[in-house]
Amino acid sequence: ASTLHAAAAEQGRYFGTAVAAYKLSDSVYTGILDREFGMVTPENEMKWDATEPSQGSFSYGSADQIVNRALSHNQRMRGHALAWHQQQPGWAQSLSGTALRNAMVNHITNVATHYKGKIYAWDVVNEAFDDGGSGARRDSNLQRTGNDWIEVAFRTARAADPDAKLCYNDYNTDGQNAKSNGVYAMVQDFKARGVPIDCVGFQSHFNSASPVPSDYQANLQRFANLGVDVQITELDIEGSGTTQADNYRRVVQACLAVTRCTGITVWGIRDSDSWRASGTPLLFDGNGNKKPAYTSTLTALGGG
Ligand code: G3I
Repeated sequence: ASTLHAAAAEQGRYFGTAVAAYKLSDSVYTGILDREFGMVTPENEMKWDATEPSQGSFSYGSADQIVNRALSHNQRMRGHALAWHQQQPGWAQSLSGTALRNAMVNHITNVATHYKGKIYAWDVVNEAFDDGGSGARRDSNLQRTGNDWIEVAFRTARAADPDAKLCYNDYNTDGQNAKSNGVYAMVQDFKARGVPIDCVGFQSHFNSASPVPSDYQANLQRFANLGVDVQITELDIEGSGTTQADNYRRVVQACLAVTRCTGITVWGIRDSDSWRASGTPLLFDGNGNKKPAYTSTLTALGGG
């Protein structure tokens, strides 16, 4: 196969990208999107601040634009993200306790119901573990409503959309470390208690400070062994040329080596689309031309 998603599909995986609604009028952007990708994650349009700007009043316009376009182009959807400490609307940031817990449950119920049947997988909870090396939960307004907030978020999402895969998503969890050990323990506990969780998302934002870890494949495998799918959800790799190409190859090979690694999503299409303030972390350059990283990724997927 000569495109990323077609090659991935031959390996039983998907290959996707984050999409920004305001770029859907750019024909270079949409040309690559429809040629190369079979899975779409709204970059910002499904976040709490975008979908519930004021309490109880929901606004789905830009997310619907992404979803409806993807489904009409035979692309599947990852939803991102139902509960997160960032990008909360101001009114939610000023809530706490029962009021915030109820607002979170209501938010998840409304958004997951609105997209019921259209979402392959939801990032139900995003980035709930701390970076400080303790493996503890991140301190946030949501965490302060009680340690069970993550379980409640998953149960609420399952009740709203029984057919979507429900994922926990985080970063700096790509190798075995205190943070990924904390996530591992939570997933193990959830599976033991029958809390509905189907997948773990590894954002996989790599750069010189946090390179592709040598135990990446082993870490993905240990989570899969818990009985969940693993998904690479926000892949981008700072760098350029053959080094960057080789790192993308390593990520693809790790996913293909883990049976329950169901797919890879890159966090943007062109380097100019990246959230990063600088650098060239993606598969296409600012003009939409394929980079060496694209070729190494396609080849690693068995395409070419
Ligand atoms: O929409 C407003 C616009 O109205 C305003 O004029 C402009 C300037 O203030 O800001 C715009 O919002 C920005 C938004 O992206 C949409 O472009 C926010 O300031 C900006 O903070 C936001 O950044 C996003 C970031 O998440 C924070 O939500 C990035 O685009 C997005 O790539 C990034 O993605 C996150 C994942 O969701 C979670 N994992 C990490 C990843 C990278 O940070």
